[in-house]
Amino acid sequence: MNDRMLCWKISEIIKLSLENTMRSGRAHEIVGEGQLGGTTHYLDKVAENAVIDYITKHELPVEFVSEEIGRLNFGNEYTIYLDPIDGSNNALSGLPFYCTSIALFRKEKQYGLVRNLVWDEWFEGISYYGSLLNGKPLKQQLHSQMISVYTKKGRYIDELRQSYNKMRCLGSVALELCYVAKGSLLALVDIRDKVRTTDIAAGKVVLENVGGVITDLNGEILDMDAEHMNIVAGCNPKIHKKIINILKE
Ligand code: IPD
Ligand code: CA
Repeated sequence: MNDRMLCWKISEIIKLSLENTMRSGRAHEIVGEGQLGGTTHYLDKVAENAVIDYITKHELPVEFVSEEIGRLNFGNEYTIYLDPIDGSNNALSGLPFYCTSIALFRKEKQYGLVRNLVWDEWFEGISYYGSLLNGKPLKQQLHSQMISVYTKKGRYIDELRQSYNKMRCLGSVALELCYVAKGSLLALVDIRDKVRTTDIAAGKVVLENVGGVITDLNGEILDMDAEHMNIVAGCNPKIHKKIINILKE
């Protein structure tokens, strides 16, 4: 199975698991703390376990990094960064905006799949090739004036509002990165010292392979090994630079 098929298979396992846990009436139960931070709900854990079962059964030689369990070493041929359900709180509260985020990194190439779990929509990023939306080349449409902002204590809100007064915060960073890639959001800023690699690995591949840019607050390359990050993502280098300059003021 190639990388793309494997990630799609994982997304199917998660989608099915989510449908079952939603029906079970137990989805909201808190079952622990994620190794990478945040509360683990029953729906997150069951979905992740289903993927781990698949990896074990098929003896996949993967270094597996996932939101709830952290890092598991089954091999070292490639690394999968998984957020089984990004936007769990949206899912649990009946807000229809959540996804699964799956990135498969090899030394020489990267693949990212962000699959919307509410309606039929999936974004793919393929290094040295480009990005796709529902299997077709992703084309940016730049009619939006909106940016998505996650902050704490109101940090930078006033500064950003002077240039962008239409702000959003939709509750699934992985999916929002893909909407930046599409141009539906001009940018995404998350400055809570909270973002983990599992949240953004797949969305980053989608964004970068359509000409978008994602960095830290200083405009520097992200340290994907860091436990927590601040991120600035722009649909193109010009908008990204403009936001970095606003944050420097
Ligand atoms: C959450 C989403 C959300 C962000 C939270 C994350 P999760 O992921 O990415 O956009 O605001 O900080 O925890 O926990 O639902 O996978
Ligand atoms: Ca999650």
